[in-house]
Amino acid sequence: MDVKAALVSGLTSDPRRLPVWFRYDKQGSIYNDRFLTDNTHYYFYRSEVEVLTANVQAIVSEVAPPCVLVEMGSGNSEKSRMIIDVILRQQTTLNYIPVDISAEFLKETADSLSHDYGEKLRVTPVPGDYTVGIEHFRKVEGRKLIVWLGGGFQNQPYTVQVARLHNMAQSMTGADRLLVALDVTQEAEAVEKAYLDPAGVGENLYLNALWRLNREYGSDIITDNFRLEANFDHSTEDDTLSGVKLRAVSCNDQEIHIPDLNLTFDLPEGECIYLHEGEYLSCKYTDAQVGSLAEKAGLTLNRIWTDPGLHVGLFCFAKDV
Ligand SMILES: C[S@@+](CC[C@H](N)C(=O)[O-])C[C@H]1O[C@@H](n2cnc3c(N)ncnc32)[C@H](O)[C@@H]1O
Repeated sequence: MDVKAALVSGLTSDPRRLPVWFRYDKQGSIYNDRFLTDNTHYYFYRSEVEVLTANVQAIVSEVAPPCVLVEMGSGNSEKSRMIIDVILRQQTTLNYIPVDISAEFLKETADSLSHDYGEKLRVTPVPGDYTVGIEHFRKVEGRKLIVWLGGGFQNQPYTVQVARLHNMAQSMTGADRLLVALDVTQEAEAVEKAYLDPAGVGENLYLNALWRLNREYGSDIITDNFRLEANFDHSTEDDTLSGVKLRAVSCNDQEIHIPDLNLTFDLPEGECIYLHEGEYLSCKYTDAQVGSLAEKAGLTLNRIWTDPGLHVGLFCFAKDV
């Protein structure tokens, strides 16, 4: 991926944007972990753990043993450990392929898994973009359980979601399964509080994209000169999604100079930089909207597990045959 080109393209577009994935360097991954545990309004994490804990056995049963476990956007692999434990009760060894753009954090997580599981778990970390991960698992032999947990899937633009599901479908056999955790919450107040929590736990995670520009591209952006705003757009149309718009709004007239991107622009008071490359930071789904995505991608929606609070759906897809 050409990171510089993506940054320049986003920062010169109207409105200006920074991609979600850019916030995930090692420091961003650490902020993400804190966000999950310390933001009491972030219902997604707790609901996802709840629904996964209650159904992990049934999820693993979707793919006959022995299988390979692939994870897109693996982060700290904490939830995957639940899945690994169940798989290792039905087969003696497991190949686990975590894919993540946050390369240093991925390596540390892989080392820690290898240390904890020993020879039972063969970990093959794939550092890079999801596209690299899909290319990689195309070549993997054996039945695959592919998981995409923690909300990483829903941070992508709608067209990218369709394209990535389609590419995955092309790489799957009829025996493979894809499990995607999606936010099915539809109440604006709960959603907006989760992303812009009153205690401000999310701020470091979001602002890390601007701080990373300072660290790696020579800028001197003062984030105290911005305020964060989050809004939920609700849609029930099958071919669209609901989602959260998150922006850093300039509190005064400022000039942004990013030497290593050869970029200088004025950001007047009230103008903003969106902190996601697509329409939304985090999409929200109805069952019909997921069904429509699956149909476009050539996947069949096999099963859905949800938590009692109806916040998270674990959607299990198979390749259309
Ligand atoms: C919301 S976090 C979820 C982490 C973990 N799966 C969990 O359940 O807590 C998204 C993860 O995807 C990774 N990620 C984000 N964009 C990515 C991309 N375009 N390609 C590969 N990994 C990406 C991030 O580094 C991060 O670890």
